[in-house]
Amino acid sequence: MISILRHDLSDVVYRLADDVASLEVHRDGVSKHVALWIDEPSTRNRVSVARACSDLNFKILDSSPSSGLSIAKGESLQDTFMVLSRYTDLFAIRTRVVSLPLRIYAWTGLPVLNLGDGWNEHPSQALSTLIAMHQSDIASDKATVAIYGDFDRSRTVRSVALGVASLGGTVILVDPAFVNAPRLASLPSELGLPGSISVAADISKVEADMLYVCRPQRERWNSSQASPPPLRVQEVARFKMVLHPLPRGEELSTDAWEFIREQALNHVTRSYLTRRALLAALMSGALASSDEERYQPNLPTNARCSADDCTFRDGCLATLRLASGTLCCSGCFAPCA
Ligand code: MLT
Repeated sequence: MISILRHDLSDVVYRLADDVASLEVHRDGVSKHVALWIDEPSTRNRVSVARACSDLNFKILDSSPSSGLSIAKGESLQDTFMVLSRYTDLFAIRTRVVSLPLRIYAWTGLPVLNLGDGWNEHPSQALSTLIAMHQSDIASDKATVAIYGDFDRSRTVRSVALGVASLGGTVILVDPAFVNAPRLASLPSELGLPGSISVAADISKVEADMLYVCRPQRERWNSSQASPPPLRVQEVARFKMVLHPLPRGEELSTDAWEFIREQALNHVTRSYLTRRALLAALMSGALASSDEERYQPNLPTNARCSADDCTFRDGCLATLRLASGTLCCSGCFAPCA
């Protein structure tokens, strides 16, 4: 202000007001922006979106909580995203907060690319798997996909299973302990999907077009439940196609990993290209956000917020733990003790 005051202030206001008015009208040729919000660790999603944006000439706005947003001062998530919506054309969200991408879409009306929301869903990762099946001429409505891994807590598994069942295919959850699978298996009938999800105990007896493997999601465990035993090479070698979203944990023996490594790394490339295609389609309006996120999450009953002023009491999905405290999706903020 000091340097501005050296000028005639009314002249400055007059000239800048004209500039602002013309900027409000002429927005042609302005670059498209993607606000990238990441509040949980990520290699593939973070870097593939950065690379895709660079390929597409979209500019990234680093809007993660760690970048120093005012939520650290208690601004609600809703207000934060409404403000961010005035700077960006699209949101790319990787979050611990279940259903935050849907909330952001409801709050702002802007397209949202869900890069994984807590234990809920990972639509872009699942799409890359459905695309892999399509590229291998596996007819989706007749496909049988075996899945081995952490059914209860893997959003990738949930999205792949629901995606295959939505297309009319059959999913077999291979759960040697039969502990986790039934909850997911009931979803196709609850959601009225044409396909089905069933459970098998012994992978050596399962016939399928593809085996999908995922790691135990230890960051979402609060029990001492044992992981499924590592798959051996002879167990994975029976399948024509074996995919893994990575990162890997203890679900594959070293030999089994060596056997699928090339396919898994090719899938990393495919997942990046899928995100790039999704970003382009969402940005151009060829695909609407609601098309990408079809399922309301099946919330655990303990997901309610206990804060007195929570406006989402019956459906508070989420708290986001920050260094300074805990923020609920409606903005209730409980500072760290
Ligand atoms: C995810 O973000 O869920 C990954 O793609 C899979 C994993 O973390 O195991």
